[in-house]
Order: sequence, then structure tokens, then C-alpha cells
Amino acid sequence: MDHGYTYQSTLAASDFLHWRIEDIIGGEKRLDFSKPFMPESFARVEPLSFLNANEKIALNQIRGNAYLCIFGLVEEFILPFVLDHARTQLRGDDYRVRALLQFAGEEAKHIQLFKRFRADFEADFGASCAVIGPPEAIASAILAHDPLAVAITTLHIEWMVQRHYVDSIKDDQDLDQQFKSLLKHHWVEEVQHAKLDTLMVEALATGRTEDQITQAVEEYIEIGGFIDGGLKQQVEFDLEAFTRATNRELNEAEQQQFREVQLQANRWTYLGTGMSHEKVLETLGSLTPKARQRVESIAPAFC
Ligand SMILES: [Fe+2]
Ligand SMILES: [Fe+2]
Repeated sequence: MDHGYTYQSTLAASDFLHWRIEDIIGGEKRLDFSKPFMPESFARVEPLSFLNANEKIALNQIRGNAYLCIFGLVEEFILPFVLDHARTQLRGDDYRVRALLQFAGEEAKHIQLFKRFRADFEADFGASCAVIGPPEAIASAILAHDPLAVAITTLHIEWMVQRHYVDSIKDDQDLDQQFKSLLKHHWVEEVQHAKLDTLMVEALATGRTEDQITQAVEEYIEIGGFIDGGLKQQVEFDLEAFTRATNRELNEAEQQQFREVQLQANRWTYLGTGMSHEKVLETLGSLTPKARQRVESIAPAFC
């Protein structure tokens, strides 16, 4: 595929853009709980017209907390996956080894950053907010799949981060500046990861038959189903956290609407924006047109 991504150029970009956790969080750099954290296209609190303005902000922030915690969670499977992939070929291409180790190191840093964020959030939000897990169980369930399926899942996640930041976060001036800064710093490093994922998918697909590739795509879809199950649970956690944070008991009809709107909001955030991403589809199509068609056929359910 003619994308022009190389280990050498992603490594150079990563060296240039590097940042430290202590420079972006802590001290004066605090969350402002009077502002929304998430763009409305992902939070979808406005359709819940029975909520007042403060309740909408509380739900938006609950979703923001879950968003960074869920990234921390998925990065716990990306980290060992990239290390395993690097280890298969430690000689021959020094840029490959260094670019992949840098990728893994950045994910380890992101995991730590998101834990640090969660501590800040919990200290000041005023109510506990559960997040799906534990990370080790989710990582081992995903890593049990064909490495090509895991690589496609990783490709999906990292292009999805690009789309979220560029299309919905960068120009949203209403968001809390500190939360937005965390998303921006995460995004600049994920730009390189998405390119390295493309190279990983291509390497893992090399030498496979079309049937073996479509089988791996089915496993990627199974992983998507597994994540979807997690999102259903997350909506329940968010409803409980909302009740604790606002002391507002929603009636049956309101709870039902909350679940419907929020499940679809979560699906769009974590599944639809990746499955329908042009770069993900391009890479799948370059493996076999059937792979692209299959994912395109199911993506609308998550959009
Ligand atoms: Fe990351
Ligand atoms: Fe990443």
C-alpha cells in the first residue's frame, strides 16, 4: 500500500514531539469542573432533555472520566502486543526495533498519565465513578485472538483517536482546557502509532491467504462485540455514578432513554468512529476488498 509510512520517519517524529507527564498534569494544571470535558458528539447529553444544565455537565464529565480510563484500559493490551511484535525481529532493521519500543514506551506513559488523571478526577469530582475492568482480564481476553485481529483492533483504536481530536476536540472552545490538553498530548503521539499499526497489520498479513485474512477480520469483529458488551456495562456504571453525583433519581422512562442514548453514544465513540474511519478501511481493503466490505457492512450499527 502506498502510504509512505516508515519506521525511521515515525521514530524521528516521535523524538521531536516527546513530552513528560510532569509537564502536563499536576500543580497549577487542574481540571475545571464548571466546564464540559467531552464534545457533545460523543457525550450526547443534550438529547436527555429531562436533565438540567448542571446535571448535563456532571454526565459529560462522567463520560470524560470513563473515556480516559477506557483508553488506559485498552493501552494495557496494546503495550504487550507491541513488545511481542517487536521481539519477533530484533535484528536487521534498527529503526523498526527503536520505533516499536518507543511506541510501547509511549503507551506505558499514557497508561500512567491516565491513572494520574483519574486520581485528580476522583479527588475533586465528589462522587465515585466505576469503570469496566480489570485491565488484565480485558487484555488477556483480547490477546487470546489471532495477532492480525489484535493488530486491526489496535489500528482501529489509534485512527479513532486521530478522528476524535481533529474532528471534534481541537476546535471546541467550550471544553475544559486541562482535559483538552491531555487529549492533545495523547493525540500527538498517537499519530505515529496509527502509522506503525498500519505497518504491523501489513507485516502480519503477509503470506496469508484471503480466507485466513477474512478469518482474522471476523475475529476483529468478535473483539468489537466483546468491547460492545463492556460498553453496555459502562452505561450502567455511568447511570449509577450520575445518580450519586447529582442525587437525582431518574424515573423508569428517563432511565430507559438514558440507556438508549448513552449506549449509542458509547458505540459511536469507541466502535463506529474506528470502523468507519477511511484509513482503517483503506488498510483493510488493501489486504482484500472482502475485508473492507465486511466491516463497512456492520459499521452503521455503531454509528
Ligand atoms: Fe496511547
Ligand atoms: Fe497509541
